Amino acid sequence: MTQAFDTPPAVELHCHVEGTLEPELILELAERNRVSLPYADLDDLRARYAFTDLQHFLDLYYANMAVLRTAEDFAAMTTAYLRRAAAGGLRHVELFVDPQAHLVRGVPLEAVLEGVGGALAAAPDGITSGLIPNFLRDRPVDEASEVLDALLASGADLLGIGLDSAEVGHPPGDFADVYARARAAGLRLVAHAGEEGPASYVTDALDVLGVERVDHGIRCLDDHALVRRLVDEAVPLTVCPLSNVRLRTVDTLADHPLPGMLDAGLAVSVHSDDPAYFGGYVDDNHRAVREALGLDHAQVRRLADNAVDAAFVDDRRRAELR
Ligand code: HPA
Ligand code: ZN
Repeated sequence: MTQAFDTPPAVELHCHVEGTLEPELILELAERNRVSLPYADLDDLRARYAFTDLQHFLDLYYANMAVLRTAEDFAAMTTAYLRRAAAGGLRHVELFVDPQAHLVRGVPLEAVLEGVGGALAAAPDGITSGLIPNFLRDRPVDEASEVLDALLASGADLLGIGLDSAEVGHPPGDFADVYARARAAGLRLVAHAGEEGPASYVTDALDVLGVERVDHGIRCLDDHALVRRLVDEAVPLTVCPLSNVRLRTVDTLADHPLPGMLDAGLAVSVHSDDPAYFGGYVDDNHRAVREALGLDHAQVRRLADNAVDAAFVDDRRRAELR
C-alpha cells in the first residue's frame, strides 16, 4: 500500500508506554487504587506539563506512575494507547516500558509484563507490536543487570532492550555488559543517545553497545564525521519533534533540524516519545512537522519509508507496512 501525502504514518518506534498515560486516566487510576496525588484536579495536573528540560519532565513522569499498581492498570494504559494508535492509523508499534521505575515502587515485574504484554497481544485491527524494556541509565548498572536476568527468566515475549532516563553524565558505555548479554540472548538493541547528551554518546551507543537504532540522536549534528558515518551505515534515528520542543532541546518546531537531517541523508523517522505529555501522538507529530517545516511530498514519504525500514519486522511484514 502506498502512503499518500495525507495518510498517517504506519509505524511507531519510539513511544514509552508510561508516557501514554493521559491525565484523565491518571486521576481515574488514582481513585481506583486509593493513591493520593498532590493535584487538586485535572486542570492542576495539566498545569504542570510546562517543562524546562528532560529532568523536569522525568520528575512528573515518574511521580505519575504511582497510580500504576496492578496488571490491570498496565493493561488499561496500554489498551487505551492501542485504541488511540489504531485511530491514528498505526499498524505496527514497538513500545518502550521502564521496568525499574515500577520495581523500585514495589510493583512486581510480572504485573508490568502481564499487563502491557497481554494488552499488546490483544491489539485491535491487526496492529503488530513488540515490547522493548528500557534500562534507566541514571540507576546502578548492577540493577539493570539483575533486571535483565529477571526479564529473560520471565519468559515474556520481548523484542529488544533500550536505555532511557536522565542522559547527561550517564554515558552508554556503562551498560556494555548488559547489552552484550542481551545481544547473546537474541534481543534487538536500541538506546536513547544525543537527546540532551553529546554526540559522543551516539558514537558510544554504536561502538560500545552495538545498537541497531538510535533514539533521538539529534545532537549528532554537532559532529560532522559522525553524521557522515550515520549516513554511510544507514543508522536509523527515531526523532521526536514535539518532545524536543517541549523539553527545550529545540527552540521551536520551525527551528527543528529535521529537514537538514533529511537533506544530509540521515535515516530519520518521526515518533512521539511520550504523547500524553508532549502534545501529540505520532500522527500529530507528522502533521506538526509538515506544517511548521513545510515538508514536501518526497520528504514526508521518506520519513514514512525510513520508519518502515527501521522497524524490527520480517520482510513480509515490512512489505505490508509500505
Ligand atoms: N528521554 C529519556 N528518557 C525518557 C524519555 C525521554 O524523552 N521519556 C521517557 N523516558
Ligand atoms: Zn524516548
